[in-house]
Amino acid sequence: MTVAEFAHLWDPQPGWLNTASYGLPPRPGWDALQAALGDWRVGATSWEPWDESTTRARASFARLVGADLADVFVGSTVSAAVAPIAAALPGGSKVLVDDIEFTSNVYPWMVHADRGVEVVSAGTDKLIEAIRPGVDLVAVSAVQSLTGTVLDLAQVVAASKEIGALVVIDASQAAGWLPLDVAGVDALITHTYKWLMSPRGATLGYLSPRLQERCRPLHAGWYAGQNVHTSYYGTQLELASDASRFDQSPAWFSFVGAAPALELIEQIGVEAIHEHNLSLANEFRAGLGLPPGDSAIVSAAIPGAEEAFAAAGIRAAVRGGNLRASFHVYSTSADVQSALDALDGLAVENS
Ligand SMILES: Cc1ncc(COP(=O)(O)O)c(C=O)c1O
Repeated sequence: MTVAEFAHLWDPQPGWLNTASYGLPPRPGWDALQAALGDWRVGATSWEPWDESTTRARASFARLVGADLADVFVGSTVSAAVAPIAAALPGGSKVLVDDIEFTSNVYPWMVHADRGVEVVSAGTDKLIEAIRPGVDLVAVSAVQSLTGTVLDLAQVVAASKEIGALVVIDASQAAGWLPLDVAGVDALITHTYKWLMSPRGATLGYLSPRLQERCRPLHAGWYAGQNVHTSYYGTQLELASDASRFDQSPAWFSFVGAAPALELIEQIGVEAIHEHNLSLANEFRAGLGLPPGDSAIVSAAIPGAEEAFAAAGIRAAVRGGNLRASFHVYSTSADVQSALDALDGLAVENS
């Protein structure tokens, strides 16, 4: 089946070009959430059936990124998921980030400055060469939020391996459209509310066995127990032996919406979504006179674009003064065409 054959599962108002801010729920996710909310309102069920969605989302994420289920944890936000890794760094460690990195993968490292954890940054195009002896950990997004630049993950992994540095990937702008694999990575964390088209509040992460050993499960509560249902009370601490000891107790309804969305992405296939998204992004780029790119996010300096889009009812974003338009599984050529029509006559200042 092609991406187009799944299009009936979404109801976007034409002109939604802002999945990099939030993704639109597919009908199976939306329906599951409405059903759960209906049950919640009247007390029709206990919570355990909602929690099955957490288990399903965890398993689907593991398959999507090629991880062992035992190395996957669930959480709430990227920054909260990064925090225990940052806390495990010895004082004096050096962390390398992209200088436009989204701050959820920057501040959690920087707050350890008083213990001598140093955060250094490099421009996106200089990142690989900045992976030099002295760097202990590389923290970077698989796709940059600001520019849409796609990371050469294989190169980052290879360069980091050479100097023994850990690699922590924020996949929030990538998971759901860009094929990903955790091979050689120490942590890969994604919020699900963008390209995984889920309600905000469900974050999923992979932690390599070596990193699990080093990290303290700082969010441990009942849900981090070896047996969740015998971990409600008291001082008997028996945490899960796998990565679920890093779980934060889940926001039920976020995961209720997340599980069907992730499973649908598996069903459609990330490769097919990747091809669809790039084809639309490149159609947009061509219309702007830009060369083809490799990202579902297009960023361009077009003075007057924000006003032109607002007048035409097209919803995109402006980041760092640039227009940021993003294309996902429910976006269409008609969306691209109306965006180009709205921008007609405006000059593009960069590529
Ligand atoms: C790359 C990236 N990471 C993370 C987030 C969200 O971070 P958090 O889950 O900490 O709210 C965003 C939101 O825009 C993002 O673009």
